Amino acid sequence: MRSAEDEVDSSPDQSEAGRRRTPRVRLVGIRPEYAALCWQWRNEPRARQFNPFEPLSIEELAGRLGAAGGDLRNQSFRAYRWLVEVDEHGFIGTVSIRANWRMLHGEIGYQIGERWSRRGFGGAAVATLIDTAFADSTLRRLFATISIGNEASRRIVRRLGFIHEGTLRRHHLIEGRYVDQWIYGLLREEWAAAENRTGK
Ligand SMILES: CC(C)(COP(=O)(O)OP(=O)(O)OC[C@H]1O[C@@H](n2cnc3c(N)ncnc32)[C@H](O)[C@@H]1OP(=O)(O)O)[C@@H](O)C(=O)NCCC(=O)NCCS
Repeated sequence: MRSAEDEVDSSPDQSEAGRRRTPRVRLVGIRPEYAALCWQWRNEPRARQFNPFEPLSIEELAGRLGAAGGDLRNQSFRAYRWLVEVDEHGFIGTVSIRANWRMLHGEIGYQIGERWSRRGFGGAAVATLIDTAFADSTLRRLFATISIGNEASRRIVRRLGFIHEGTLRRHHLIEGRYVDQWIYGLLREEWAAAENRTGK
């Protein structure tokens, strides 16, 4: 019988195409006034299907956003979050890092509103997030926790050079079910080596 892990190719896809940064996106530090917009994205079917979101009111979410940092050079926060902005559409999603400043690792998160999906924005946003994280902080390692079956998310991290490091069985409670989670990790030196190879 095939296990969830059998479905995962642990080798990263580091093709030139995989490392693309187009379309161009910008990361803008989040503020509580964007809570209603973020709340809508959190409640989209695909986001709910794959993420262990706590049910929060817009007001509670505004409180969370107000407590998040937007500049990794300031290590007084644990959670950092940015809006993803593109010229054509304005704000289209969010990216985040939960940092452990003692261990120097960070868990990344990302979401693109469904109406803008499959246009390369997710991949470009995560590439920009990684650039920012390694340029602005001393984090040595980034990782993502991905619900099995979340193919779009898995494709993004693989293309950016993350390695499948394992699977946490029945780890997250999502919509009443315990769901296995793939762990994908990327080390600072792997990102730098790949950047040198592609000549960025
Ligand atoms: C994951 C997510 C950010 C992808 O955003 P996106 O803007 O559609 O991503 P991209 O357009 O860069 O596509 C990335 C890859 O996934 C593929 N893809 C996109 N949507 C897909 C889907 N529904 N099913 C299968 N593959 C999909 C794309 O074809 C692309 O593949 P390629 O690199 O081989 O060409 C978005 O689906 C999302 O916000 N999901 C809900 C939140 C979430 O699960 N976040 C991840 C938490 S770990």
